[in-house]
Parts: sequence; C-alpha cells; structure tokens
Amino acid sequence: MKILVTGGAGYIGSHILVELYTAGHTAVVVDNLSNSSIEAIKRVEKIVGCKIPFHKLDVRNRAKLYQIFAAEKFDAVIHLAGLKAVGESVAKPLDYYANNIDSTLVLLDAMKHYKVYKLIFSSSATVYGTPEKLPLTEDCQTGVGITNPYGWTKFMIEQILIDVAKANPKMQFTLLRYFNPIGAHPSGTIGEDPNGIPNNLLPYVAQVAVGKLDHVNVFGDDYDTPDGTGVRDYIHVMDLANGHVVALQHMKPGIQIFDLGTGHGVSVLEIIDAFTQASGKKITYKIIERRDGDVAACYASAAKANKQLGWKTARTLEQACQDSWRWQSKNPNGYN
Ligand code: NAD
Ligand code: UD1
Repeated sequence: MKILVTGGAGYIGSHILVELYTAGHTAVVVDNLSNSSIEAIKRVEKIVGCKIPFHKLDVRNRAKLYQIFAAEKFDAVIHLAGLKAVGESVAKPLDYYANNIDSTLVLLDAMKHYKVYKLIFSSSATVYGTPEKLPLTEDCQTGVGITNPYGWTKFMIEQILIDVAKANPKMQFTLLRYFNPIGAHPSGTIGEDPNGIPNNLLPYVAQVAVGKLDHVNVFGDDYDTPDGTGVRDYIHVMDLANGHVVALQHMKPGIQIFDLGTGHGVSVLEIIDAFTQASGKKITYKIIERRDGDVAACYASAAKANKQLGWKTARTLEQACQDSWRWQSKNPNGYN
C-alpha cells in the first residue's frame, strides 16, 4: 500500500516508516518539522535502503495538501502530526486546539475529496483520564479526569472521527491509543530527540545516564502502588510501530479502537533500575513532590489487539532500555 504519514519525521513516525517499508509498503511523509529534523528521514532512508518522498508542509495547508493527494493516490493515511507537550498545552491551549484539531479536519476533508477511506489515528491512553479500572480496556469510560488541553485534543479528535465514520459508511478508521512509547530502532540511528529538558521519564533518565542532566526527579513515592512511585505501561516504539502495520491489514468500515500497550505496569524506580543495568551508568535520583495531573497507575489489558489483530509486544523492557541507551550514547545531542 502507499501510505501518507503525517508527522512522519517525529519520534514514532520515523519508526513507523521503517516498519512500513520492511513490510513492503511505501510512504509519503508530510511534516512541518516543528518538533523534528529532516535528518530523521535521511537516517530512515539509510535503514530501509531507498528514498522516501518528503514534503515540509503544515497539514493545515489545504491547497498544498490537495496537490499531494491529487498526485499520489494514497491507499491509506497514518495521522501522527500534532503537538504533544502536556505542560506546554496548558500554557498555550489555543495553539494545541488549532494545530491538532484543524490539521485533522483539513486532512479528513482532503481524504473525502480524493476518496481515501482508510485512516489510522495516533490517540493516547490520556483519553482515559483517571482510569476507571485497571488494566484499562477499550470500553472503559473516556474524558473523565483529563487534566490538560493536549489530552482533550485527543479526546475531541476521537469524537470527530467517530462522527465522520458514522456519516460515511465507506470510512475505515482505526484509533490506536498508545500507552508510553520508549526505546529506539536497534541500529541506534533513530530515536527520541526531545526539545530542551525532557518532560517524559525515559528521555530524562537517558540524559542523566549520558551525563547531560544531574539526577532524575521522581515525582512522588506515596502513591498506592507496590513501591509508591507511578506505574505506567512502557511499550517499545518498534512494537508500537509494528502495531500500525498489523492494523493496516485489518481495516474495515466503521471505527475500530485498540489500546497498544504491553499489559504490564512498571514503576519509576523499576525504570531507573532497568536503565542502570542497560547503560552500566550510575543514575542518581531524588524523590520530590507529585506532579500535577499524574495518576498513580495506568496500564493496558492489550487483550483486544491480541485477539482481533493477532498483535502483541515482542520486545522486553530491558531491550527498550538497551536500544534507548544505544541511541542516546551514539547521539548525545540527538539529530543535531
Ligand atoms: P513528535 O513530536 O516526535 O512527532 C509529531 C510530528 O508532527 C513532528 O515531527 C512535528 O514536526 C509534526 N507536526 C506537528 N504539527 C504538525 C502540523 N500541523 N503539520 C505537519 N506536521 C506537524 O511526537 P511523537 O512522540 O512521534 O508522537 C506522534 C503522535 O503520537 C502525536 O500525535 C502524539 O500526540 C501521539 N502520541 C504520542 C505519545 C508519546 O508518548 N510519544 C503517546 C500517545 C500519543
Ligand atoms: C505523559 C502525559 C500524557 C502523554 C504521555 C506521552 C502527563 C500528566 N501525561 O504521560 O498525556 O500522552 O506523557 O507523551 O504529563 N516521572 C518522574 N520524573 C520525571 C518524569 C516522569 O518521576 O522526570 C514519572 C511520572 O510521574 C509518571 C512516569 O514517570 O509516573 C511516566 O511519566 P511520563 O513519561 O511523563 O508519562 P505519563 O505521565 O504517563
């Protein structure tokens, strides 16, 4: 299949490109590079051994997006383009609503115009807000306890896609709710390259291990979890990427929703320990107060994707930390 990948130069998109080409698909990337580097695409091209068509473009540029749809005849779209920094979304809500929602609306309009019916959307476990139960399943309530505009954009876009699919029975939409993607391609040539000081745990720990940051601040050790620190479902980004390729093979009219996670919860201290083992570096940490908006624990059941897609994660936490360390130690300044 020929796939349009919006946001394909980003962390998850670059890994999806590798999996798409490995499975025999081709892709065209549209990305405005607002949070990524063209170097990521060049490195993916080295891994897959061919050129990947790339357009530096904001998805909201309707006229140019139409031209690309007219020229390419896509079979499907994987829509990853969006802003994703939770704290920034609280400070700049309009930027987040405008970017994430408008880009989806323009994309859906182009798909309708050019009769492209298949879309995979990168949603997030954040739509579950405060988990109704653990492990989370796809039928759990969403929208209760979402604490930030970023999370609301994911919730709202899901609703938009549900409504559009209802109105047009030809549409085949798959919503993938990612848990916590970590790790990197095993080559160590592509990986997560956050701007400034990382907000997420894994890139922060990796930067402490490589000596760029002094210590990890652990946000609270008084949660109702086995060691008191926050528990999450960390999924290797290559497993997540593979989930998209598998989902492409199982598209059908209407809406399908899948959680992509491992099914296992891992604590902050367990992550620090696993990264210490993988890197062989001492990783100092300090317990500080809880971070606003955090929940104690959040992990997927992963049973639905396993049953209906035949997909499950294949890589361990240890591999994810080793791959992340390979990327971080080979590229201490990311793509710069
Ligand atoms: P990323 O920032 O690395 O990738 C997003 C890409 O989209 C970037 O390359 C950015 O330049 C591009 N982009 C943003 N707005 C655009 C626009 N209007 N037009 C064109 N390009 C635009 O983030 P990522 O971690 O790879 O995440 C990809 C998607 O998955 C995002 O939608 C994110 O919200 C979602 N997601 C990520 C996580 C995570 O933990 N990384 C978890 C759940 C969901
Ligand atoms: C966060 C976002 C979520 C987003 C996801 C991926 C919040 C409230 N949620 O999820 O919406 O989809 O990132 O981008 O921000 N931690 C520390 N020290 C750190 C960083 C994190 O102790 O320096 C802890 C957190 O308290 C949490 C765990 O590590 O228990 C994971 O945090 P993080 O990587 O930020 O992911 P989430 O909070 O799950």
